[in-house]
Amino acid sequence: MVRQVFTGSMIHADEKEEVTFQDNVAILVEDGKIIDVMENPDQQKIDDFHADEVNNSSPGQFIVPGFIDCHTHAVQFPNLGLGFNKTLLDWLETYTFPLERQYTDQELAEKVFEIVVKRTLQTGITTACYFASLYTEASTLLAEKCSQFGQRAFVGKPNIDVPRDNGYYESTEKSIETTKTFIKAVEQIGNPLVRPIITPRFALKCDMELMQELAEIAKEKDLHIQSHIAETEDQLKRIKEKFGETTCTAVYETAGLLTKKTILAHGIYLEDSELYTLAKRGTAIIHCPSSNINLKSGLCDVRRLKANNIDVGLGTDVSGGSSYSILDEMRSVLHVSSSLSLTGHDNVPFDYKDVFCMATLGGAKALSIEDKVGNFMPGKEFDALVIDLNAENSLLDNFRKYTLEENLQRFMYSGNDHNIVSVYVKGRKVK
Ligand code: GUN
Ligand code: FE
Repeated sequence: MVRQVFTGSMIHADEKEEVTFQDNVAILVEDGKIIDVMENPDQQKIDDFHADEVNNSSPGQFIVPGFIDCHTHAVQFPNLGLGFNKTLLDWLETYTFPLERQYTDQELAEKVFEIVVKRTLQTGITTACYFASLYTEASTLLAEKCSQFGQRAFVGKPNIDVPRDNGYYESTEKSIETTKTFIKAVEQIGNPLVRPIITPRFALKCDMELMQELAEIAKEKDLHIQSHIAETEDQLKRIKEKFGETTCTAVYETAGLLTKKTILAHGIYLEDSELYTLAKRGTAIIHCPSSNINLKSGLCDVRRLKANNIDVGLGTDVSGGSSYSILDEMRSVLHVSSSLSLTGHDNVPFDYKDVFCMATLGGAKALSIEDKVGNFMPGKEFDALVIDLNAENSLLDNFRKYTLEENLQRFMYSGNDHNIVSVYVKGRKVK
């Protein structure tokens, strides 16, 4: 048994999604699980815990829950920052699928995934939902890297069975077979923090039979599901051409893909009836504002989703997104939300607390893993970041003494990953 104590200032979103600021706490952790959070702790009680390791924060430091990136494409990291002269469907064909097809090369996969997992951990992403490539070996390697470096992760081997010119697709039968092989391979890693996730790429590139079989596998094995939805108007037009006059939500509903463990990226152009279905199924939308701006896809009205009882998590969506830092993504949420209100939408802009919640507890709820992570309630696992506004190479200077609330704002608006000085996943120090 390993016992750890973390003392200092703590910020998290509580069960009511209210961000709370506590100047002096002690968090008691046993085998990676939070046993107790004591406010203004009595030293005797801390001593009685007989910790193997005591971590006392320095002045200017504070502890926050780990960030959750609910949607990113590990294979696309070599294209970071490329291709934004195109819109989605052109961008996919010109830049993205040609890159992803190269992942039959295990050396490339090894090099890229090692960097992806190390770098995302450095930026405080303690839970990541990844799209890998069509190839089982490469996709399994990504899961192995997450396990090796200690990231909590959902790793998906995407499915595409609609024939494409450059050969980046599989027959329906093969796509199912390789998915089953991939699931087994991830299970064999034997790390409960790293789970396979069913990943139909999106309705335009998957036939109904494939999606239905994938839904069956998810049901049988109680797995999460991830895909894309309502990202551009062009995409919706083509979905209507492919499946008849219908919505993308209806296509996924017919396939059986909408569950409480399903997360769908984007959701910009959803009709009211779709919101109703998604809420009924408990399916979450993952907001990816940087990607939506880079590819000129649109501005997602997240308030509307939430008003319709849909859980919303955050996604960097690399390489539609041009940064794997969720700090950058949080700023994009604020920019998009402010832009919507500036352009006449009936929309009260989000503030930094809303977005902090979205990147932590919001992501956990979207993934239905809020019993495990998202905040520091006793019984949950200790996924946490130590933030230091006196860190070297910080963009911030400390001209005066700031309150804890001010420091969270300063970190979110003007901080960088140098301010994230330690990262823990289930108590394991990964930075
Ligand atoms: N829709 C289908 N595939 C993708 C992808 O790789 N990125 C984004 N942004 N949208 C997609
Ligand atoms: Fe995506």
